[in-house]
Amino acid sequence: MVANSFVLAGDICYSTSPTQVSCTRDGYLVCIDGVSAGVFETLPDAYASLPRLDCTGQLIVPGMSDIHLHAPQYAFRGIGMDLELIDWLDSHAFPEEAHYADLAYAERAYGIFVEDLKRSATTRAVVFATLHVPATELLMDKLEQTGLITYVGKVNMDRNSPDDLRETREESARATRVWAERTAGRYARTRPIITPRFTPSVSDPLMADLAAIREEFDLPVQSHLSENLSEIDWVRELCPWSSCYADAYGHFGLLGPQTIMAHCVHSGDEEIELLRASGTYVAHCPQSNAYLASGIAPARRYLECGVNMGLGTDIAGGASLSMFRCMADAVAASKLRWRLVDQSLAPLTAQEAFWLATVGGGSFFGQVGSFAPGYDLDALVLDDAGIRTPHELGIWERVERYIYLAEEGGAIARKFVAGRVVI
Ligand code: GUN
Ligand code: FE
Repeated sequence: MVANSFVLAGDICYSTSPTQVSCTRDGYLVCIDGVSAGVFETLPDAYASLPRLDCTGQLIVPGMSDIHLHAPQYAFRGIGMDLELIDWLDSHAFPEEAHYADLAYAERAYGIFVEDLKRSATTRAVVFATLHVPATELLMDKLEQTGLITYVGKVNMDRNSPDDLRETREESARATRVWAERTAGRYARTRPIITPRFTPSVSDPLMADLAAIREEFDLPVQSHLSENLSEIDWVRELCPWSSCYADAYGHFGLLGPQTIMAHCVHSGDEEIELLRASGTYVAHCPQSNAYLASGIAPARRYLECGVNMGLGTDIAGGASLSMFRCMADAVAASKLRWRLVDQSLAPLTAQEAFWLATVGGGSFFGQVGSFAPGYDLDALVLDDAGIRTPHELGIWERVERYIYLAEEGGAIARKFVAGRVVI
């Protein structure tokens, strides 16, 4: 195996809408030059001569897009989860990120992160690095070698940050421009993304500089928005001119369909309308929002309003790198929100969470997250035999169970990104 054209044979499941899945038992998923030619019950003659990978009895589902996580924070995930955002940044995230000034440390820490991401269910990711350009390029080099498709951001911070994790406005803008020039065309699968950490860390003049760099290099943007109530109060003080937190980015032209805003837990009507009208993506990070006690984002409302949305693990605000766990958490959080906060917003179903993890986040990358003809062929072959039961289950029931029980006996047997073998 395997050239970029091949056939996967097995039990195939993918979302055709947020509320519907297509399931084919003993079906054939055809990949031509890295792109899906569709799913067939009987293999058409035209594809009979292609190499075939027999995954009979295993599940074949689209790859997952993790549209928000912090690579340097992988080193301390699962530690210090009993704080709220600002204290957690000061006591855990910032001190860890300062270590990435040391390339030897970055080599070790990013080596572990990249190996684990490669083995995970994630096929595409949108990643924060740190403000250090050499370590960020090292991360990009390592990710490129995995075959995953990623966006990676050199982080910008010129205020309200510790001395060893702060640049001046001039240094930050200059370093970002040089880094964008060096990396924008360097890789096949790895791209730079402009990354103002969040408004409290980025002065208005630097925000304007970053908007100009983004324009010049035609780059996407990622940041954080309305995650925590103290953070929102702080932004109101820092940007008294803004009509809402999202406006503190939108004012500089930083919202749009190539922008991801992580969290959006406490966004009000005006902010949601800004997100919707601009096509900005929300990265819904249910585990992080629970562990940092930020709250429960109104994911159902975003779906109903037509706000673009995908899922994020937000390592290390979230502890788990698993997109299956992320889907399960999205469902659980929405049920608590419905029961305890707002019964006008129905909980998410497992099918909706599956759609968010595949098509919802995948669409940030283009035609990604489905097996419909024309989509990039990102696929996971899942072995669910170890999640034992005496029952004969339907294909969707097996996928649903895998979402909740992946860590208890599930195994990712193969992984493909744009038709390329990753594992
Ligand atoms: N807001 C600004 N920086 C961060 C971060 O590293 N993690 C989370 N969860 N929120 C942030
Ligand atoms: Fe984050």
